[in-house]
Amino acid sequence: MKVLMINGSPRVNGNTNVALREMEKVFVAEGIEVEILHVGNQAIRGCIACGSCGKTGKCVFDDMVNEAASKFEECDGLVVGSPVYYASANATLVAFLTRLFYSTHFGKTMKVGACVAAARRGGLTATFDELNKFFAIAGMPVASGQYWNGIHGRTPGEAAQDEEGLQMMRTLAKNMAFLMKSIALGKEAYGIPEREPGVMTNFVR
Ligand SMILES: Cc1cc2nc3c(=O)[nH]c(=O)nc-3n(C[C@H](O)[C@H](O)[C@H](O)COP(=O)(O)O)c2cc1C
Repeated sequence: MKVLMINGSPRVNGNTNVALREMEKVFVAEGIEVEILHVGNQAIRGCIACGSCGKTGKCVFDDMVNEAASKFEECDGLVVGSPVYYASANATLVAFLTRLFYSTHFGKTMKVGACVAAARRGGLTATFDELNKFFAIAGMPVASGQYWNGIHGRTPGEAAQDEEGLQMMRTLAKNMAFLMKSIALGKEAYGIPEREPGVMTNFVR
């Protein structure tokens, strides 16, 4: 069982990392393998809507997005962490996720998703909402914890003083581990839910 963690902060040892590392401890104790990818310090451009991935199943820009795709395909759970920039996930992370989710066509249903945000003061829940939407459109059950997964801090590492934030991360990771293990059992017993062929009406009447 494996969890892929995405750190959207350009500060590899910043506050998002504090949150992800707190979760990692729980996953390791639960016997779950963890890999952290730092994407926030990479030059990752946005989607150009070229449609190439529709034919090839991978992004036309051969960078970290395509590298992450196979890791995403193999994992049982995905954790996405972001610093809050102007009450939003940071732009590099959004570019990364947009291209990763759009360009890959493997089944994501029943891979568990969770997101965490780090901020000095405001915009945590807006970022939480924004990130959860990637999971929801892909049929991924969303793990929750004891609050809207956020941690407070400004300077790198300051979030280690946010006791409540750290507890949130531990609770979230415990719940996520339980969900992943339960889904693995459920898959054996019932398989993945069948999906109807997609319908796209584009609001045209
Ligand atoms: C461009 C920029 C925009 C920011 N916008 C916000 C914001 O809207 N709300 C907030 O509370 N903090 C904001 N911050 C502060 C960061 O969210 C905060 O320092 C956070 O801990 C960074 O996480 P990191 O250490 O993982 O990079 C901003 C920081 C930067 C650089």
